Amino acid sequence: MSNKAAITTQNLDPIIQNRWSPRAFQADKSVSGADLTALLEAAHWAPSCMNEQPWRFIVCDKTSHPDSWEKLLSCLMAKNQLWASQAPVLILASAAQHFSNSDKANAWAAYDTGAAVQNLALQATALGLSTHSMGVKKKSWPHVSVILSKPACNLGESSPIQKSD
Ligand SMILES: Cc1cc2nc3c(=O)[nH]c(=O)nc-3n(C[C@H](O)[C@H](O)[C@H](O)COP(=O)(O)O)c2cc1C
Repeated sequence: MSNKAAITTQNLDPIIQNRWSPRAFQADKSVSGADLTALLEAAHWAPSCMNEQPWRFIVCDKTSHPDSWEKLLSCLMAKNQLWASQAPVLILASAAQHFSNSDKANAWAAYDTGAAVQNLALQATALGLSTHSMGVKKKSWPHVSVILSKPACNLGESSPIQKSD
């Protein structure tokens, strides 16, 4: 677990207490297929309005899909690209705007997708991984990128990125 546990008055579940959003990652550590599946399953079990499950995830693994990984990286703001470029996996989280059985707008889609991303983030913490949500350049309908990796807690002060954590 991280050494950045949240300071709280009451003892919280360690998974909640230890989740945080690092900027320094271990670029050389990939995320296993089993872990990725677990993260998406955790997201899938989030509550949603009428069980619509409006979240959509595009998982871009740098090793297996370098082109899509680069494309998603380019959607981030320049400053965020600095640290995101160290992450082996980038995920685009988005929300379907309409209910699947009608043209009716789903006003709760962003809320539900946030819940799904939080499930994913907490499962990542449980697996010793870290996530860092970041907005994308084009601020249209909710699109959030989630940077996924093993946190780099031991790069030392020589790492300018680690200093910002
Ligand atoms: C929708 C959303 C957008 C975010 N955008 C950025 C961002 O552009 N750059 C960044 O460094 N962090 C971003 N964050 C991370 C927050 O700054 C971070 O979650 C917050 O400071 C709390 O820190 P913690 O996650 O370590 O507890 C974003 C988080 C969310 C939920």
